[in-house]
Amino acid sequence: MDIRDVTPDDLDDVLDLRRRSFGPSPEADKERWRQAVLPVLGEGRYIGVFDGSRLAGAARLRGFTQWWHGRPQPMAGIAGVTVGPEDRGRGVGTRLMRAVIRRGVALGDAVSALYPATTPIYRSVGYEHAGAQHVVTLPAEALRAIRPATEVKVRRMGPADAAEVVSLLHRVHGAARASGPASWDVDTWRLWLGNPDDFLYLTEDGYVIYRWPGADIEVDSLVAGSEETLRTLWSLVGSGSSVAKQVLASVAPDDPMLWLLREWTRVEVRQVRWMFRVLDVATAVERRGYPEHVSCDAVVSVADAVRGGGTWRLEISGGSGAVTPVTSPDGVQLSVNGLSALYAGIPSATLRLSGLMSGDDRYDEALDSAFAAKPYMLEHW
Ligand SMILES: CC(C)(COP(=O)(O)OP(=O)(O)OC[C@H]1O[C@@H](n2cnc3c(N)ncnc32)[C@H](O)[C@@H]1OP(=O)(O)O)[C@@H](O)C(=O)NCCC(=O)NCCS
Repeated sequence: MDIRDVTPDDLDDVLDLRRRSFGPSPEADKERWRQAVLPVLGEGRYIGVFDGSRLAGAARLRGFTQWWHGRPQPMAGIAGVTVGPEDRGRGVGTRLMRAVIRRGVALGDAVSALYPATTPIYRSVGYEHAGAQHVVTLPAEALRAIRPATEVKVRRMGPADAAEVVSLLHRVHGAARASGPASWDVDTWRLWLGNPDDFLYLTEDGYVIYRWPGADIEVDSLVAGSEETLRTLWSLVGSGSSVAKQVLASVAPDDPMLWLLREWTRVEVRQVRWMFRVLDVATAVERRGYPEHVSCDAVVSVADAVRGGGTWRLEISGGSGAVTPVTSPDGVQLSVNGLSALYAGIPSATLRLSGLMSGDDRYDEALDSAFAAKPYMLEHW
């Protein structure tokens, strides 16, 4: 079997593979998918496994921006990993994922994330559990009560606001020193903001995207850079409380909205887990943000069967990281899964007890302080 880029001529076969993998989807969704995929085929972000001319598997590397401690970097968001039923269980998916990782590096992405439908295949190529999309269920009336003290100007938004949304995300996630949230590029945002089923509102420093598919309102994402905007947008969603009794909302685990609720005792939270992988150790560490006042000087050895691994000295101070390859055998021993989880803020105590980290423990506390994070995502793909 060969691995090569998917071309426009292969799209019907990819759609057929998706039908055999995820079940049937409405014609309108297929058309939207084509519109989103066609323009990016030339960018090397869709690869397939072919048995002669027959498509056996496919995967997409979406180009995201992801924030780590408030600093943005390009991230390969893996989607549409599919192997035809007749080819499953023979290592095709694993081969495809190894090619995806190499392609991500070639495209300049040092980190990658995905929402797994099943964990073992991704773990076997170095992805590890890192964060979640947190979906809370709240009474709509509780949100309506979060009123602002002053009036904030709100307007409807649409495709023409795509660039403004991206710039707003840079400002808000940067200022909040957020870890985990991701953004599509402007072109993809333009497509999303044209979805007729969504309600979209924008202020000077925030936006909300929500929909009403059944009895409950669903908040896709709400981002706010000030308390007044936060109150305005959540109470706007809650203003539907005379008809919709519940709101399901994708939020950060420390979302400030939760601290504005009058009552917050038992809240149902559904976690949809995502996995994360460092593709290029040196670049990923150098692109990440860190707490300004923390310093860490550690030697880490990373075992990575797909990328080769190595030993590096990590010097983190003043909010930035520098990386140098070293030959010293001493240091912390990590699988690439362990390094990826550490990067996402999973504490060394957890990594050691789950077999993802071993060796010299003198750097553990410094590494924990440097990489501390509570990663989340508002978006799902
Ligand atoms: C998941 C999928 C891509 C795996 O492809 P594949 O070619 O069968 O994978 P491989 O043969 O390389 O197997 C890799 C590992 O995944 C495991 N795996 C495969 N399918 C699995 C499933 N349905 N449930 C749990 N584990 C599974 C295999 O057991 C193997 O692990 P092991 O070596 O520890 O036994 C394929 O089954 C598929 O397309 N499924 C439907 C769509 C889907 O779920 N895609 C993933 C979206 S995130």
